[in-house]
Amino acid sequence: MYAIIGGSGIYNPGMLNEVLMRKINTPFGIVHAMCGKLNDISVVFMPRHGVNHSVPPHMINYRANMWALKSIGVTRIVSTSAVGSLKEPITPGSYVVLSDFLDFTKRRPLTFYEGTNSLVEEKDVVHIDVTNPYCPQLREVVIRSGNRIGLSMVPKGVYVCTEGPRFETAAEVRMFSGLGGDVVGMTNVPEVILARELEMCYSSVAMVTNYAAGTSSEKLTHTEVLDIMEKNKESINKLLLDVIPSIPLERTCKCEQALLGAKG
Ligand code: HPA
Repeated sequence: MYAIIGGSGIYNPGMLNEVLMRKINTPFGIVHAMCGKLNDISVVFMPRHGVNHSVPPHMINYRANMWALKSIGVTRIVSTSAVGSLKEPITPGSYVVLSDFLDFTKRRPLTFYEGTNSLVEEKDVVHIDVTNPYCPQLREVVIRSGNRIGLSMVPKGVYVCTEGPRFETAAEVRMFSGLGGDVVGMTNVPEVILARELEMCYSSVAMVTNYAAGTSSEKLTHTEVLDIMEKNKESINKLLLDVIPSIPLERTCKCEQALLGAKG
């Protein structure tokens, strides 16, 4: 089964048929997800911020979300998010297929594996390899689909994840850019890490809604971000409609063996 995680502005699975809301129990809490079909393919849709954007980035129960997806049989995830650009050539309106991240979060549970304190059965110490955190096979599919339907695609990019919920200062933006970041957002960490710990393929397409703070003289607002996401909703849905049926059945990546050699 495949999953779509909808970020800011993407709250309902418009592209799915036969949608049923499912309540899923996890060791981290209850999760609601919408299960449906796209061209006979089973797809679950999860709005990351809740149905009415009621959960801010730093309060999202990432572990419950990812555990829930794994427990209902999800093997591959395509996620969307809104980001600010840290680099002039990455213009608002483009779609960045994320390839790496820099973690600047501060107080989020980042792992399922907490040794003897773990809420899951597995009590081992686990150090997962995240050299390539995003699934290379899914990334290829997303890039090809985006190009096919004529979106302005950026085939790779380093995502800086901040704690939020505030936007960045101008000095932070200069630092992030200098450190090699391409775009900035508040949600991809720990989502991508937790998917990997559960050996699910994870890819993410980041819609650039704005240049990051301090790059222009205008104040950056959340309303502006949501307005732009609303305007681009159709394109994102079109992209997902093309991506899901294009995913090859066979997993040629190594995501399925992410835990191999990771336990101490
Ligand atoms: N910063 C952080 N998160 C964001 C931004 C930004 O500029 N734009 C959209 N999400």
